[in-house]
Amino acid sequence: MADATLIAQLSDPHITVGLRDREPALALSAAVDALRRQPNRLDAVLVTGDLVDTPGARAYERVRELLAPLELPVYVIPGNHDDRDAVREYFALDGRTGSAGAPFRYTTRIGGVRLIACDTTIPGKIEGALDFEHRAWLEAELRAEPAMPTLIAMHHPPILTGIHAMDEIGLPEPDRTGLADVLARQPQAQRVVCGHAHRGAFGVVGGCGVMICPSTWRQAPLEIPGAEEPLLADETPAWALHALIDDQLVSHLQPLERRKLPRPKRKP
Ligand SMILES: [Fe+2]
Repeated sequence: MADATLIAQLSDPHITVGLRDREPALALSAAVDALRRQPNRLDAVLVTGDLVDTPGARAYERVRELLAPLELPVYVIPGNHDDRDAVREYFALDGRTGSAGAPFRYTTRIGGVRLIACDTTIPGKIEGALDFEHRAWLEAELRAEPAMPTLIAMHHPPILTGIHAMDEIGLPEPDRTGLADVLARQPQAQRVVCGHAHRGAFGVVGGCGVMICPSTWRQAPLEIPGAEEPLLADETPAWALHALIDDQLVSHLQPLERRKLPRPKRKP
């Protein structure tokens, strides 16, 4: 067996700064500790959006600080809570991610895996898009190396989860169908990985497996169709490991311990 390529995925950490909310940072730091404790050498970490809850320099600096102990190459994509230009500034990738205002998208290689990172955000909106131009870019990237096992990352899932409130803020049907057509023509695209839904789920688009990675912070309750408005609950977070084994990607989901904030002391 050739050396495995191991890519860890974290999603939706929603880091905030200030006294109001330390829980997202504690949760991301617990995830980083778990990655550091696991016995295998990782090749990279991928963070699939909503790096911060509200964009700002301090929040992105905090994300970088929290990820630094990994001592790994970090690849990110923006989510609907992010500012794509701030993401570009703090996770520059040597200028390969386009100019200001443009989608934050790129292609890179991690060991034996080709990573194509798409930007499904629409500035100022919660829902996503993977429009014709973006799909044409993706297909051109795929055509460039048809023999390389490829992992495609995006924030918004290209599948319906059945959780109504999450699906309402996902990708529109024509974009999902268009992506299915692209992937059906490019069988080297072995997995689409994403976040946004704040829970682990699996599906298929155009014959390609799709994995939604849970948030490192809070999860959407499992209820179909569920509430009208998106809900988040204190359920077990998780991270994902995408491993290339003999030219095939396998995706593992690994639960994380929740770190509780200490209870405030009672006044005497
Ligand atoms: Fe999120």
